[in-house]
Amino acid sequence: MLSVNNTQYTVTRMKTPNTIPAPEIFPAEQDIPTKYQIHEFIEQREYLVNGELRQWEGPMNQVLSPVCIKTNEGFQQKVIGSSPLLTSKESLEALEAAKEAYNNGQGFWPTLKVKERIQYMEIFVDEMLKQRDEVIKLLMWEIGKTLADSAKEFDRTVTYIKDTIHALKELDRRSSKFEIESGVIAQIRRVPLGVTLCMGPYNYPLNETFTTLIPALIMGNTVVFKPAKYGVLLIRPLLEAFKNSFPKGVINIIYGRGRATVGALMETGKLDAFAFIGTNKGANDLKKMHPKPHKLRSVLGLDAKNPGIVLPDANMENAVAECVTGSLSYNGQRCTALKILFVHRSIVDEFLEKFTEAIDQLKAGMPWEEGVKLTPLPEPGKTDYLTDLVKDAEAYGAKVVNAENGGGEIHETYFHPAVLYPVTAEMKVYREEQFGPVVPVVAYDDVEEVVDYVVSSNFGQQASIFGRDSKKIAALVDELYHQVSRININAQCQRGPDVFPFNGRKDSAEGTLSVSDALRVFSIRTIVATKDKESNKEIIRSIVRDGDSSFLRTDYIL
Ligand code: G3H
Repeated sequence: MLSVNNTQYTVTRMKTPNTIPAPEIFPAEQDIPTKYQIHEFIEQREYLVNGELRQWEGPMNQVLSPVCIKTNEGFQQKVIGSSPLLTSKESLEALEAAKEAYNNGQGFWPTLKVKERIQYMEIFVDEMLKQRDEVIKLLMWEIGKTLADSAKEFDRTVTYIKDTIHALKELDRRSSKFEIESGVIAQIRRVPLGVTLCMGPYNYPLNETFTTLIPALIMGNTVVFKPAKYGVLLIRPLLEAFKNSFPKGVINIIYGRGRATVGALMETGKLDAFAFIGTNKGANDLKKMHPKPHKLRSVLGLDAKNPGIVLPDANMENAVAECVTGSLSYNGQRCTALKILFVHRSIVDEFLEKFTEAIDQLKAGMPWEEGVKLTPLPEPGKTDYLTDLVKDAEAYGAKVVNAENGGGEIHETYFHPAVLYPVTAEMKVYREEQFGPVVPVVAYDDVEEVVDYVVSSNFGQQASIFGRDSKKIAALVDELYHQVSRININAQCQRGPDVFPFNGRKDSAEGTLSVSDALRVFSIRTIVATKDKESNKEIIRSIVRDGDSSFLRTDYIL
């Protein structure tokens, strides 16, 4: 039984038998199913430059799993391997390899016909599919993502690549004709930008990285790719696939600390495009290092503080279910997660009761366990940061509503979801993106308070509205569509389906990603034009007929 009155908040919740106390989630080594065990320390010394898997003999970075192992000496975070800490020297070699392969657009890769680049990509997908099980296993161990979500991430990435191939064929078909306008004959095509740096986030180290890497490559750019901070070893099974599928220098993969590696790349001014999914601070710091800001095309997916807005007439069951998955799937570590819930004061008691009950039903455990939803966190110091947010909120009068059922409890790398109420503007969690299992709930009286929050936010990615009254929903949509890039009605925020545009305003993003938009982002429309005169037409006809140009052509991909 949980009771909330609007001025004085009290909790008289009984512990439910469904709750698994946090300390019990970590297994002994022998309790891990054999097929999910990491049998050997993964010492990765290879990195990919100029079509060669080079061996690194210098300092290594230890890769710690968020999974802890129960031993006689207590719980120990599992060390699963190590990866190279390259220096600026190796990253600059990667850049030179990419630059040479691009060769000012005259290289083998950028001048290939689209259908030939597609063939290379198809070879890569076939090779990638052979590594499915290994990549999924490493996703679980490195970032603590559940087996179901890890499999989804892999399969979604493969689908994304196939959809990209399909979209590129469409794009190329549309460019295969000449246009005649106001006495000018022209062919308009998208051509690559040049050398691209791709960096992805730890929460989707495969999928989100590949949503920029694959379109960049297939459009004819050459790439230096640096895997995310966590979720590094899972790229290793794909290194051979990259090496064997693409011509040398087209894709180069480096490892190490940001400033030493990518900082050095930026400072050269030789990068033409920068794809980064991470924090806006990280993106700002790197972008500023590039000496020619207008040369650098950036596509960025950054921070967000997406609000869930529960109107007084919302279908409670649906709102609770969507807010639980919206705020806590992958422990809230999604840029699209619902990071603050605004619930109308008239229904906040009922909402909190049902919301915390639903959280109690979420199974905490190891990523490979059946039905598990809550898992340990990969970022060092994250549990301390989340505790600090909770303590700060408590100092200003909030309570952990589900404290008696483990809310806010920590065990090693595991943090049990904490529902904070009543959250107010003085608290850090009101504005900061927690990117973890802390759910701030704010009671509002007038929906304009919520609109003001969104307008004054530094972020502008998405919002969710839960309600029934179409007129009220319409009014709110009309206030929000100038503030955020996607408004979800009676549904949590999310990126998919991947054919939909994914972007944001303010500090949340730069550029738009989707299967088809990404092809545009990594290319520039270029025109070859002539006056509509018979002599000019004959030149064009002759070039097309003899297949003399990779730009001027009318072949149609079937
Ligand atoms: O972390 C941000 C992701 O783009 C979110 O994607 O909504 O499919 O989880 P998702």
